Amino acid sequence: MVNFAGVNFKNRVTLASGTCGFGREVSEYYDLSLLGGICTKGLTLRPRLGNAPPRTAETPFGMLNSVGLQNPGVEAFIRDELPFLRGFDTKIIANFSGESPEEFARVATLLAEAGVDMLEVNISCPNLHAGGLAFGVDATAAAEVTRAVKEVAGTVPVMVKLTPNVTDIAAIAIACEKAGADALSLINTLLGMRFDLKSGKPALANITGGLSGPAILPVALRCVWQVAQAVKLPLMGMGGISDVDTAREMLLAGATLLSIGTAQFKNPLVAIEIVRQLDS
Ligand SMILES: Cc1cc2nc3c(=O)[nH]c(=O)nc-3n(C[C@H](O)[C@H](O)[C@H](O)COP(=O)(O)O)c2cc1C
Repeated sequence: MVNFAGVNFKNRVTLASGTCGFGREVSEYYDLSLLGGICTKGLTLRPRLGNAPPRTAETPFGMLNSVGLQNPGVEAFIRDELPFLRGFDTKIIANFSGESPEEFARVATLLAEAGVDMLEVNISCPNLHAGGLAFGVDATAAAEVTRAVKEVAGTVPVMVKLTPNVTDIAAIAIACEKAGADALSLINTLLGMRFDLKSGKPALANITGGLSGPAILPVALRCVWQVAQAVKLPLMGMGGISDVDTAREMLLAGATLLSIGTAQFKNPLVAIEIVRQLDS
């Protein structure tokens, strides 16, 4: 049992947002109750169709994605997906975003009322009031979103998910801590791009996308280490974890919980293998 921001997780391993949908497909491979928790695909107030294809591209030891937060909307999640997830003995971490602090607060209110175990606030999305710059690259905007969510979250712990696409990640972490965050998760994907040599065009229709997978592990470890030195909040570490050794490195960097993302696309059982091996 691991206590993380007041929530008792049966083990340290969670599935990372956007890499496991709402758990249905993964549940065909193993019992989700074996996991410490599951982070949902990023939810928004209204349903989103996401970006045009192609939305993924392979990279050496990783991948690029520009899914564009495709999701059925928070209300459909609560109605159609949450009851399914509640059928398992695992913590439900609802990942979500908004286009303004008010919209973040609206989604958080609905999720908190629905009784999810934890909120994961994805601040890597564009702030419409700041010309589309992500909330997470600006300490003031990150703090504003954290405060807005915290005000409506009630007893549900608020974990803010940090982007590595900044000069000083510790400064953003400190701003979120001061604004009342209960925990931090990191890292989200690194902004990248590739070209298709046949067409001479970018490989992703969205031109740029987020880099994830084993290639980003050293960046993720560095970020978790820097943030662990700067704040007292508990951290959920992710970015390139692909086996028990990389999981152990993430714990050494200062993470209490772990989240496994891209590695599942190569080995769908990787998360429960890590659960078993961390124990032994
Ligand atoms: C296809 C895909 C979709 C993702 N969607 C989300 C999302 O909706 N919200 C979010 O906060 N992070 C999202 N992420 C980021 C992951 O949760 C994670 O932070 C990142 O991929 C680094 O971990 P990894 O290297 O283990 O994949 C997504 C990642 C991938 C690969």
